Order: sequence, then structure tokens, then C-alpha cells
Amino acid sequence: MSSYDVIVIGSGPGGYVCAIRCAQLGLKTACVEGRETLGGTCLNIGCIPSKALLHSTHMLHEAEANFETMGLMGGKPKVDWAKMLGFKDDVVEQNTKGIEFLFKKNKIDWLKGWATIPEAGKVKVGDDVYEAKNIIIASGSEPASLPGVEVDEKKVVTSTGALELGKVPGKLVVIGAGVIGLELGSVYKRLGSEVTVIEYLDVVTPGMDGEIQRTFQRTLKKQGMDFIMGAAVQKTEVGKKGVTVSYKLKKDDSEHTLEADTVLVATGRKPYTDGLGLDALGVEMTKRGQIAVGKDWQTNVKGIYAIGDCIEGPMLAHKAEDEGMAAAEQVAGKHGHVNYGVIPGVIYTSPEVANVGETEESLKEAGKEYKVGKFNFMGNGRAKAMLAAEGFVKILVDKETDRILGAHILGPNAGELIHEICVAMEFGAAAEDLALTCHAHPTLSEAVREAALACGDGPIHS
Ligand code: NAI
Repeated sequence: MSSYDVIVIGSGPGGYVCAIRCAQLGLKTACVEGRETLGGTCLNIGCIPSKALLHSTHMLHEAEANFETMGLMGGKPKVDWAKMLGFKDDVVEQNTKGIEFLFKKNKIDWLKGWATIPEAGKVKVGDDVYEAKNIIIASGSEPASLPGVEVDEKKVVTSTGALELGKVPGKLVVIGAGVIGLELGSVYKRLGSEVTVIEYLDVVTPGMDGEIQRTFQRTLKKQGMDFIMGAAVQKTEVGKKGVTVSYKLKKDDSEHTLEADTVLVATGRKPYTDGLGLDALGVEMTKRGQIAVGKDWQTNVKGIYAIGDCIEGPMLAHKAEDEGMAAAEQVAGKHGHVNYGVIPGVIYTSPEVANVGETEESLKEAGKEYKVGKFNFMGNGRAKAMLAAEGFVKILVDKETDRILGAHILGPNAGELIHEICVAMEFGAAAEDLALTCHAHPTLSEAVREAALACGDGPIHS
């Protein structure tokens, strides 16, 4: 029987990063993965393929909306959908193969198949049983189901099916105005679909800063996306031609239907722990079906750890990666740590939305006195030169100390710009520290500095 210091179950961003870190720390490591390729949901059917489609359709939008203004004349590009999907698949392959290379380089064994834990210290894959001093579960998540809605991944799809539709739908109904619904809704909107988003709440992207939610929804409406808010989807019925979506408006309980060629169900994800045998092992779970862990990511069963989407917290690849590195260090007797207060969130629409830390709403709820420093991209020269001067940077600081508590950006490259603020927050910086830092001109980052200046004496360009 082969034996390892660590067996990681799952090779998504949590699992593969954890395995690499374990190997770097000198631990004999294996990683179990049942898919044909490494990388989990993120690389195969999530973050990476969706970003390939977001990028290519963003380019299409640029060509259609902005090229002529910039003096780039000529015919509008025609979409070859099969080729675009091929491009996406190539991007996925390069990334998944990249992980395979990293595993070889770090001497990590890939145990191919689906894992079960028959007892602490043992992992079974197919007919083979391996010994493991430590087991780290990184089994991820799967789309949550919605009563009355049967997913066939053809006409009624989750994000998985939405990444490989046979053709661009004429009418797409998206259930849920969360991250997945709005990102993939944007892709198809730019490809020419009529897109209607049905959302249960009265706001998009629950949990985000209220001002961002409102501005973001306005921006998407301007791009042609339709919204039916305060509406609970009851059921979908697949007919010969398309799909009928039935929903109920919360305000008056009235019932309505909508016809679609394709329906995307994007109403959240749930932890995936099927087949691991956690029940029999007595591993404690939370009420929401997540694996319960302590500060060191260890479960109540000694030697079994869990990280990523299958435990509590935001279901984000980078949160899983950080936990993977930290758990590896804990297993190696070091002091792995994750600062859950500084985990950025990004929605890769166009413009992008990025956030970190507190929102105005969470600060009000906590009764904390704060100041807002805001700067519109309209005052940023670079954004104007890119025809992308839409949105703003908003920094929230402690009223007394000027310490940065949170930041919210809607605008070009928001997902890159947010990290300057994340680093500042990790260092416990005040907005003045950002404001006093020289920022190259002309860059979008100057908008971050201006928002920091707005927390003090005021920005220059507004
Ligand atoms: P979500 O939790 O972000 O949004 C789901 C939305 O569906 C909510 O607004 C909810 O109110 C609504 N909803 C639920 N039931 C409904 C019903 N019956 N009728 C109408 N609306 C209903 O979930 P989503 O977008 O599926 O994403 C799942 C996870 O994946 C999230 O945790 C997200 O953070 C993560 N993810 C992150 C990405 C990123 O960071 N860029 C990209 C894709 C996914």
C-alpha cells in the first residue's frame, strides 16, 4: 500500500494549490481527481472558460461600439460561434495541462478516480487504498437545484451547459442576478441574445455595496439587459420549441410566464461532498451542509482537513487557494493564516465590479462611523482615452483614524485595481497612505489615488 504525508481530495484551485504547497514544504503528496483533467470547476467549467468568452465578446463589443469612434473603419466582425467555443476550449486545455506540468515538477502523484475515506488515515480510489497521515478535502461545490426546474444542460442549463450551447439563443432567461447570471448573461447579450434576468430580491448581486448594486444594474440595463426584480421562479417547462418560465411577483403574488429558447439557472451553488463517506466517519457538518472546520482547517476527525467551497465562506477560487496554502502550512507544523477580512470579489462584466472589505450597509449596521471618498472615472484621462470612463472608485475609511475599511470599484479593470487597496488594507493603511503614494500618469490607478484623496482634503480632478 502506497503511503503519503498528505492526500488532497480534489484538484480545483483549492486542492491543486494546496498539493503544490505541501510538496514545496517537503511533504510526500498525492492529489485525487476523478475528472479527465486537473483544475476542478474553475479551470474546466467555471472561471477560466467563462473569462475566455467574456474576453472574446468584450472584443466584439469594442469593435461594434467603439472602433469607428477611434477611426478604425471596416466591416463589423462576424461571430463564428464554433470557433469561439474552440478558443475557449484551447484556453481551458492550456490551463489544465499547466497544472499537470506543475504536479510533475513538484513530484505530486495524481490518483485518478473518485475518492472515499474508509477511515481516518486512509483514502480509497477505485480498488486501491492509500495511507495518508493527513487528508485534505477540497471537493468544491456544484450548482444548487431549484424546485420545479429540471436542468437538462441543453435548454435549461447551469453555468456548465451555458459554456457550450449548440447555438447562441435568441431569447435567454437567466434565473438569479448573482455573479454567474450577470457574467454569462453579459456574454450572450453581447452575442445578440435578448436577455431577461429574473431575480428574487429587489437588488442585483446580494451582499454588495448598495450604491454599486444600483449603478451596476443601471449600467447593465443600458447595455440592453432586462430585469424582472422581486420575482420568484416557480417552474420551467420544456416544450417543442423552447422553455416556458413561470414566476410569481412578490409584491402582489401575481403569476406570470415568459418564453425562452434557453434558461440559465444561476441561483447559487452548494458544497459537493457526495461519496466521501463523511457521515460514516462522523465528520461534523454545518446546518448548511458545509464541512465544519476549526481555525487550522481541521475537522472534528483528527488528520482530516477541509478547504474551499465545501467549507464556510464565499465560494471563490482565490479564497480556496489561500486556504489551501494555509492548511498545507498547518499540516507542516507552520502557522498558515487567512485574513478573511481582505478577500476581494470581482464580477468580470464590462465594466468590471470589484470589492473588498466592508460595505456602507455593513458599517451602518455595525454602528461604525465612516467617511466615503469617491472618484468618478469621468475625471480619469486614461479611462477617457479608452472610451471606458464609466463608473467610480469608492473607498470607505474609519472616520477617526482614516484606516481603510473597504473599497468598491465599478469601472475599467476594476478587478486589477482593487488589489492596490487590498495590499494597503493588509498593511493596515490609512487612505492618506494611498493618497501620498505617487501613481504613474496616465493610469486607471490614478482613480484609486483620487478616491483616497477624496477621503481627505479632496481629489484634484473633480
Ligand atoms: P449567487 O448566490 O451569486 O446569486 C444567486 C441569485 O439567485 C441571488 O441573487 C438569489 O436571490 C437569486 N435567486 C435564488 N432563487 C431564486 C428564484 N427562485 N427566482 C429568482 N431568483 C432567485 O449565485 P451564482 O451566481 O449562482 O454563483 C454561485 C457562486 O459561484 C457564488 O458564490 C459566486 O460568488 C461564485 N462565482 C464567482 C464568480 C466570480 O468571482 N467572478 C464567478 C462565478 C461564480
